[in-house]
Amino acid sequence: MKKHILVVPGDGIGAEVTTVGKQVLEAIARKFGHEFTYDEALIGHVAIEATGSPLPGETLTKMRAADAILFGAVGHPKYDNDPTAKVRPEQGLLQMRKELGLYANLRPIKLFDELLDASSIKPEILRGADILFFRELTGDVYFGKRERLDEGNTAYDTMIYSKYEVERIVRKAFEAARTRNKRLCSVDKANVLESSRLWREVVQAIAPEYADVEVEHQFIDAAAMLLIKDPKRFDVVVTGNLFGDILTDEASQIAGSMGMLASASVGDNTGVYEPIHGSAHDITGKGVANPLASVLSVALMLDISFGLKAEAEAVVGAVDAVLKAGYRTRDIAGPTTQPEHVLGTDAMGQQILQLLQA
Ligand code: IPM
Ligand code: MG
Repeated sequence: MKKHILVVPGDGIGAEVTTVGKQVLEAIARKFGHEFTYDEALIGHVAIEATGSPLPGETLTKMRAADAILFGAVGHPKYDNDPTAKVRPEQGLLQMRKELGLYANLRPIKLFDELLDASSIKPEILRGADILFFRELTGDVYFGKRERLDEGNTAYDTMIYSKYEVERIVRKAFEAARTRNKRLCSVDKANVLESSRLWREVVQAIAPEYADVEVEHQFIDAAAMLLIKDPKRFDVVVTGNLFGDILTDEASQIAGSMGMLASASVGDNTGVYEPIHGSAHDITGKGVANPLASVLSVALMLDISFGLKAEAEAVVGAVDAVLKAGYRTRDIAGPTTQPEHVLGTDAMGQQILQLLQA
């Protein structure tokens, strides 16, 4: 199979982890006889520094021309404490999502058994948890009208959803539930918010078309609690952009570490595959970042964008085997990890590559 992949490392540890992700793609191409070509582009803080824009036109052109995008992270601490900054790295990410129509963000939460002791949650609560989140990605308060009034002393953001936006993500979630345990939980705040009442109405209207899927509705506050209390009760979860952002960071603890979680952002065109973790400037350049979320993002790309199931399974299998062999990056090392098994980014990547070359 011939595919053209755009690598967009972005900021912070993005470059370190996507380097490993790309090596995994190269190894898969060799092992399975595919022809993958690559290009690279800037986004975020590094793009602002180079061009003044967090999403340069050239990047967008390259993105549209690619079959899939391997993405790192965006963000820089310099903006976090400067609320007045007019241009911010995150704008590049949000604009990319909008421009490419990436309305569905899939965040699978699956605990590798070997990482049971890496989480701060009790093993008996975690064992067997397997959740697929569908976070809506191009609507909500992220894109609604926002403004400062009253000489800057008042501010508002608008939580806004249209029926078609809810419908398309909810349908994707129902379809996925059908291929899994046939349970769908829709998360909203319909006891307070009008946009959530619309959301719930849409889910209720679509549900009869998927009569084989059991549907439940939870309010965001209760969902946040249940996720930690009993993660196994969830199969597929569908929710809006902001609630999904928050819930999936929480859910990352079910997978042991943020450093393990991959995501796929898809719409009707090119898909973007990225870790859910951020740019992590505190560890940038130290060579200790966990590359496994980027590696698992590659698995999602192979599966979802290219339909290469065996190749995707080979990647996930390699991650599983490396963990079974006892190797850990710092973030997932537990009390029983032997010190010599704690690896840096490149060494962890090498372990995965060795297995894929075998
Ligand atoms: C994510 C991130 C982004 C978001 C930030 C970096 C804007 O937290 O992808 O979850 O809020 O969507
Ligand atoms: Mg987030």
